Amino acid sequence: MHSLTITSRLAALAIGAIFVAAQDDLPPARPQIPLAEKRFTWPDLPYQVDTEVLLRGTQSGYNICNSTTENQESLCQTAHFNSIDDFCLWAPPRAGENIGNIESHMVAWCTKPGHGTRLIPEGAITGLQWIRTPDYVQAVGFFDETMVNIGEEDYGGEIDPHGADGRGNPMGALLFSEAWTGSPVQVINWHLFIGRDRFCFKACDPSRQNDRQFCNNILDRIGCDFNIPNVAQPDVFEECAADNQDFPGVYTQADGAVITYTQPEGPIDTIEWRPRTPVPSDCTTYASAALFSGLPAGANPTPSASDEPEITPAPSGGLSTARPRATPSNSNASNGGARPQQTNTSGASRIALPSAAALAVILSAIIFA
Ligand SMILES: *[C@@H]1O[C@H](CO)[C@@H](O)[C@H](O)[C@H]1NC(C)=O
Ligand SMILES: *[C@@H]1O[C@H](CO)[C@@H](O)[C@H](O)[C@H]1NC(C)=O
Ligand SMILES: *[C@@H]1O[C@H](CO)[C@@H](O)[C@H](O)[C@H]1NC(C)=O
Repeated sequence: MHSLTITSRLAALAIGAIFVAAQDDLPPARPQIPLAEKRFTWPDLPYQVDTEVLLRGTQSGYNICNSTTENQESLCQTAHFNSIDDFCLWAPPRAGENIGNIESHMVAWCTKPGHGTRLIPEGAITGLQWIRTPDYVQAVGFFDETMVNIGEEDYGGEIDPHGADGRGNPMGALLFSEAWTGSPVQVINWHLFIGRDRFCFKACDPSRQNDRQFCNNILDRIGCDFNIPNVAQPDVFEECAADNQDFPGVYTQADGAVITYTQPEGPIDTIEWRPRTPVPSDCTTYASAALFSGLPAGANPTPSASDEPEITPAPSGGLSTARPRATPSNSNASNGGARPQQTNTSGASRIALPSAAALAVILSAIIFA
């Protein structure tokens, strides 16, 4: 939602003003308690964590997930982020959806049975780097996003537990990790960039002081390379240790001076800085078959050889895997939730939201602009 451009915000303001004038009995946008302030102790979860009837509608899935909810139609929205072979993403409930349209209703897709969720189909993930640092764990992956219902060539976006109205995306999403204590603890701050056949997901240790900053949700238009700088490579499955990155948007120059990047509202043509990428150490590599088993076959037909898009080899630094044919002409966005820049209202009309979400966008554009 932060990704609305000036033009779309102006349009939203105009429409919103008319709408508000016409109708003043709308439900409130914000819950009494924002999602990121709700605390749960595993396994004591409510059926739904988001029960109020608010502007963006109601939570579409549920948080109690078990063997009866473990199937490829599951609407479980409780995700886990434990280890290189045991983590979940949120992705659309229906095939062919763009993240921007469906982010508030996405459901959990996991790499391992046992969480009461959908399973990421066999062969979908084609490269994966799991990194543990003092303050967080993160996963960067290459995958066929259509196998988890994401529209082909969708640039995607950022998924996080805050959002303009405090309900998070998806609404009612909960995340637990065993990475720090060996049993599930609720992750309060996390961000997931997903799109362009790439995902990067960082879960910040809630016992550490800077979890909000390391997992901030500010740079939602510039994707993995700037929020989760990494050297993950296609076809490699590895887990490593590393030092912490800088907080997203913080750039320490060679002379030690620190720049803080602020994402503009308008087009982003070039970004002058590059974040520091901590060098991973102590890496263990795996064959994907050794990591993932018991997964269903993908429902989507395998594209024919001539259809198969080429994966560009990662350049030095291994940061980009853009599919050439998917590169939008007006964008330098290359992956993982870096949205194309929208320079005019025709571009902005790409954001075709369902009505409840559209309403929320309009109102939040006014309230939170
Ligand atoms: C399994 O999960 C469903 C959906 O949340 C819930 O309705 C049901 O009560 C759960 N079953 C058990 C045994 O907990
Ligand atoms: C992308 O960025 C590079 C420099 O970073 C620039 O040379 C190029 O023209 C840009 N491409 C587009 C389409 O904006
Ligand atoms: C908006 O951008 C599109 C493609 O970038 C272009 O075709 C169209 O003419 C532009 N419209 C305006 C009003 O500038």
